[in-house]
Amino acid sequence: MQNFQYCTPTKLIFGKGVIDQLPAVMEQFGKRVLMTYGCGSIKKSGLYDKVKALLPQKEIFDLAGIEPNPKYNPSVLEGVKICKEEAIDVILSVGGGSVLDCSKAIAAGAKYAGDPWDLISYKVKAKDALPIVDILTLAATGSEFDAGGVISRTETNDKIGYIDPLLYPRVSLLDPTYTFTVSKKQTAAGCADAMNHIIEQYFCADSTLLNDGFMEAALKSLMIQTRKCLENPEDYTARAEMMLCCTYGCNRIYSLGNSQSGWPCHGIEHALSAYYDITHGEGLAIITPRWMEHILNENSVARFVKYGVNVFGIDENQEKFAIAHQAIEATYKFFESIGIPMHLREVGIDESRIGEMAHHIAVNEGLENAWVPLSEEDLTEILTASL
Ligand code: NZQ
Ligand code: ZN
Repeated sequence: MQNFQYCTPTKLIFGKGVIDQLPAVMEQFGKRVLMTYGCGSIKKSGLYDKVKALLPQKEIFDLAGIEPNPKYNPSVLEGVKICKEEAIDVILSVGGGSVLDCSKAIAAGAKYAGDPWDLISYKVKAKDALPIVDILTLAATGSEFDAGGVISRTETNDKIGYIDPLLYPRVSLLDPTYTFTVSKKQTAAGCADAMNHIIEQYFCADSTLLNDGFMEAALKSLMIQTRKCLENPEDYTARAEMMLCCTYGCNRIYSLGNSQSGWPCHGIEHALSAYYDITHGEGLAIITPRWMEHILNENSVARFVKYGVNVFGIDENQEKFAIAHQAIEATYKFFESIGIPMHLREVGIDESRIGEMAHHIAVNEGLENAWVPLSEEDLTEILTASL
């Protein structure tokens, strides 16, 4: 067990109808609100009107059109500009992880005199940030309970995970009924994202029985509940449990005391969505089984055996590598069974930029320090196997 420090200052308000608490939540934060949202889903669902109706005393400024894989230019820059010009007191993020991630970068940029990219690229450490409240509409990233935001900068093919304790949302309002309208594609991608967050924490050198059990249960829950959500998008219990599994994902709570893994699949996927703007969860689902096969060896096999036996119920009375291969195959088959395209070519990625992406990952993601270290050559092989 490794030493650790842990503190999550975010208040979770979870359940059906919790939006009614929004006025009381917002009361503590001043009058001028920047409301951030995506490309239309909250207008279609009626949530946009509902939020406005609940906050008649507030002066609300809108930042619309935040895209999946949120962009530094224009979204972060526009948001920072509004915050500074309008002396915004608080950001209200209404949408999925992309809207919330973008809001986090805006929150820090609003309190910084220079170029916000200085903060996102860790050139300068933020000293302050605006408070953020969020209403989450998609279960996937865990951004509602963590201190990170992932921002893309198109012209340099960068997609950077910007993490700072200042970025924890103050309050996250989580009503699973708002995820009823999430498409099958995004529901499946959200499941793959959350499963990979757990896998990134599970596959490491030093774990505990407690954490292993917690993560194995969460993986099983995600698979069962996601199937139910796909069969019946309005199954409240399934949507609720899926949402909670996702909320824990990036908060470190699944793996307190574990050694670091380096989050290799995320390091690889961030390049895929930076270069090709693909859906994050789909990229992860494609990479995960190929990464697993690539790192399977005499040192890592015991982890795969535990994963295979406890998560997929594979017969433990077999040769260890046979169990490991079956576990990897079961991971692949699950993603495929929920409708995820399992080849890079199916999401518009061919071999032409694999070398360039492998180099970019090797230079920027620090995966030479991952649990099983990955060189540029390893990365090229994993990407090629994913085609
Ligand atoms: O833009 P709108 O119209 O809102 O539509 C969105 C978007 O098209 C739609 N959607 C969201 N809620 C909906 C809905 N459609 C119908 N009904 C609803 N209730 O879904 C699409 C995808 O939304 P997005 O916010 O992009 O999805 P997600 O929550 O999966 O976020 C993905 C982003 O989060 C980053 C990813 O890299 C990616 O950029 N991540 C953030 C993390 C973090 N902060 O901790 C960790 C993750 O590893 C991840 O990297
Ligand atoms: Zn992720």
